[in-house]
Formats: sequence, structure tokens, C-alpha cells
Amino acid sequence: MIVVLLGPPGSGKGTQAKRLSAEYRWPQLSTGDMLRSAIAKGSQVGIEAKAVMDQGRLVPDEVVIRLIAERSQDSDCKGGFILDGFPRNESQAAALDTMLGKQGRQVDCAVLFDISDQDLVSRLSGRRTCVKCGAMYHLEFAKPKQLNTCDSCGSALIQRDDDQPQVIKKRLEVYHQQTEPVVGYYTRQSKLKTVDAREETDRVAAAVHRALK
Ligand code: AP5
Repeated sequence: MIVVLLGPPGSGKGTQAKRLSAEYRWPQLSTGDMLRSAIAKGSQVGIEAKAVMDQGRLVPDEVVIRLIAERSQDSDCKGGFILDGFPRNESQAAALDTMLGKQGRQVDCAVLFDISDQDLVSRLSGRRTCVKCGAMYHLEFAKPKQLNTCDSCGSALIQRDDDQPQVIKKRLEVYHQQTEPVVGYYTRQSKLKTVDAREETDRVAAAVHRALK
């Protein structure tokens, strides 16, 4: 199954993608994680992406489309995969359909995480991520046992550069202007399911399951 997780920054796409991935063995294809990995490696793509991401804007379509085109052809994606943070505008959605069409595949379901901007600000400003294993925490909703230390591997927890208030504001603006039309795109294809992303994590996971049935 090929599933698109769609929703504003901080709505819980990454959290639920990891759970689905562990349960169904579908890899999580997160363009945000791929770009952060390119930044950490200091590659040309990473250097160019960092400047854009730090401002809360979208990286050029051709860059993210190429990342997904390459990754989706890996052998672990044969049985399906979860798209987290892609597509983020209608051009990316159309490019994805063309790409999958050439492989005789298609998006099976797009799940929209529905939540207000007000709730998202506290989600994003409290998020902490492990520098080593990428495990995710929240200072209020998913606290690590020891402050600033990863429960899984003991490494330090950091705040993402784009989780600063001014950048959060810009990311939300960009979401409403450029990504929200993707909701209409999948509605027109009768593939859209909506979950209430304000609920606590287990309840959102249950709603995602129901949506995929
Ligand atoms: P990306 O990394 O994709 O960020 P995002 O879409 O803004 O989403 P986030 O990762 O911030 O949030 P999320 O929905 O995954 O929520 P999470 O599960 O972490 O993109 C970053 C940047 O890369 C973009 O701004 C852009 O520049 C670039 N980019 C990426 N893809 C691109 C593309 N396709 N095209 C162009 N540019 C692209 O949860 C957030 C917090 O809330 C966590 O602390 C978590 O523990 C907590 N939480 C989760 N669920 C719950 C719950 N139910 N209740 C309480 N707390 C919860």
C-alpha cells in the first residue's frame, strides 16, 4: 500500500509514520528527514536546502521529487511505503502520480491530520529530537525520562532549527498557501481520509488504522 500522510507542521505525521512503519514494515519516506540527512552530510543539496528550510520555505520541487523517485525504487519499497511530508504542493502530487504510474502503481490513500494552528505552535516549540537515533519527544506530551537525554540511546536531545517561533509562523503560512490545495487534489481522486489530530497519540493511531481499512 502507498500512503500519503498530509497535514500541517507538527500535526503528528512523523510520529504516526514511525508507528505504521514498525507495524506494517512499510518504510517511512520523509523528505524532511532526507533533507536533514543531506544537511548533516554537508552535501551540495544539503547546503542549498538548509538556507531554505531555516526560513520555513519549501525546497525546490525538482530536489524533493528526485529524492522520492530514487528512494521509492529501493527493494524495501516494493510492498508499499509511507510518504511523510511529500507531496507538499499540487505539482509534487502530479509528479508523484506520473512517477508511480510509470511503475504501474498509485497512491492508495491520503490521510489528512486535522488540527488548528494554535495547537501546532505548542507541539512544535516543545518538540525535541535525538541527535543520534532520531527518536522524538515532547517536553509536555512525550517527555524523556531524563531531561534532554534520549531514552533509547542516551544521546543528547536537540530542538530543530526550524522550530523557532518566527520560522513556525512562516511554515504554517506556507502550509496554508501551498500544501492545503493538495487536500483538494486527493479529495477529487476520492482518496482522502481525515483524522482528528488533536487527540492523544494512541487515539490518532487508531483513527489512522480505521482510515486505511
Ligand atoms: P518536515 O520535516 O517534513 O516538517 P513538517 O512537515 O513541517 O512536519 P514536522 O516534522 O514539523 O511535524 P510532524 O507532522 O511530522 O509532527 P511530529 O510527529 O514531528 O519538513 C521540514 C522542512 O523541509 C520544510 O519546512 C521544507 O523546508 C522542507 N521540505 C520537506 N519536505 C518538503 C517537500 N516535499 N517539498 C519542499 N520542501 C520540503 O510531532 C510534532 C511534535 O508533537 C513532537 O514533539 C511529537 O512528540 C508531538 N506529538 C505528535 N503527535 C502528538 C499527539 N497526538 N499529541 C501530543 N503531542 C504529539
